[in-house]
Amino acid sequence: MEPVVRSIAERLAEGRPLTEQEYQTLIEQREGELTAFLREQAVSRRRAIYGNAVFVRGLIEISNICKNDCLYCGIRKSNGQCSRYRLSEQEILACTEEGYALGFRTFVLQGGEDPFFTDAVLEKLIGQIKRRHPDCAVTLSLGERSRESYERLFAAGADRYLLRHETAEEGHYRRLHPEALSYQNRMNCLKTLQEIGYQVGCGFMVGSPFQTAAHLAKDLKFVETFSPDMCGIGPFVPHQETPFAAFPAGSAELTCFLLSVIRLIKPNILLPATTALGTVHPRGREMGIEAGANVVMPNLSPVSVRKKYELYDHKICTGEESAQCKDCLQARMRSIGYEIAVDRGDIKK
Ligand code: 5AD
Ligand code: FES
Repeated sequence: MEPVVRSIAERLAEGRPLTEQEYQTLIEQREGELTAFLREQAVSRRRAIYGNAVFVRGLIEISNICKNDCLYCGIRKSNGQCSRYRLSEQEILACTEEGYALGFRTFVLQGGEDPFFTDAVLEKLIGQIKRRHPDCAVTLSLGERSRESYERLFAAGADRYLLRHETAEEGHYRRLHPEALSYQNRMNCLKTLQEIGYQVGCGFMVGSPFQTAAHLAKDLKFVETFSPDMCGIGPFVPHQETPFAAFPAGSAELTCFLLSVIRLIKPNILLPATTALGTVHPRGREMGIEAGANVVMPNLSPVSVRKKYELYDHKICTGEESAQCKDCLQARMRSIGYEIAVDRGDIKK
């Protein structure tokens, strides 16, 4: 390792904030020795806080209907090839029932920005889940909404909200999104969620079109200053029916490197080894955990709709039953010396 790089890495490992330029240097100068050093530091910091526990979140993909048109996303409204669905309240409750029996204590309701899911519809749904499973956390991942809406859903019992910022560079944000979406609004939503009292997750894609090391450095600075409870990162994977069909996928290697850096920026953060990471590499999720992640999100959606929630090509876990996904992940985690925890998996403060 270059002495300059070593000094930056050591400061990061000691929990000191870096400048954007320093984050960029780490990304640009990364090689075997730096990667291994940060990985070992990240794993040891995580072990001191969470031991060998990996938290699970049961992901329920409630609707692939979306009014937005993000250029990277397979369920964008312009994709006429996408066969649309929306789960009923009964179907969603059946998923949570099954998930509860399998040991899940967190449910993530994720979907496109589907106008059917008004505040009133969601309040009722969240109330039902909380009544049946008072010991479970409910996480929402339903995109941009108004402050009033976020407040109502919080009051109805939602505990957490995932809203990836996608990129912390405004010009880059514009190249990934249609005119109707703005970086400012996305950032305002994240701030609002935090103010209301949600445990908040931000996140970004790795290797998205036009992304540079300087952009990623901004993402890292944002994670440092915003201090989210969670951060979802995964490689960009092209979808054939989008304008970005011909762009290459992001790498598992860079994603894992960034997982280690984020773990060191905020040692107690909840960091998923994502499905996208498992899609670009057969051992992607194991590699993510070994780089510093501590969460996995098996799919609890009905098998009949899984293939339709195709954000990107070749998404894994679209044919397996929920119990199979859970067993599969349990075996994968055990194979690398970790245990799945039956618990809400709140952040340790
Ligand atoms: N590749 C990887 N991740 C994607 N997402 C959407 N489309 C893609 C893609 N093509 C991610 C976005 C979104 C999350 C739900 O899925 O980051 O926030
Ligand atoms: Fe879904 Fe392995 S986690 S099949």
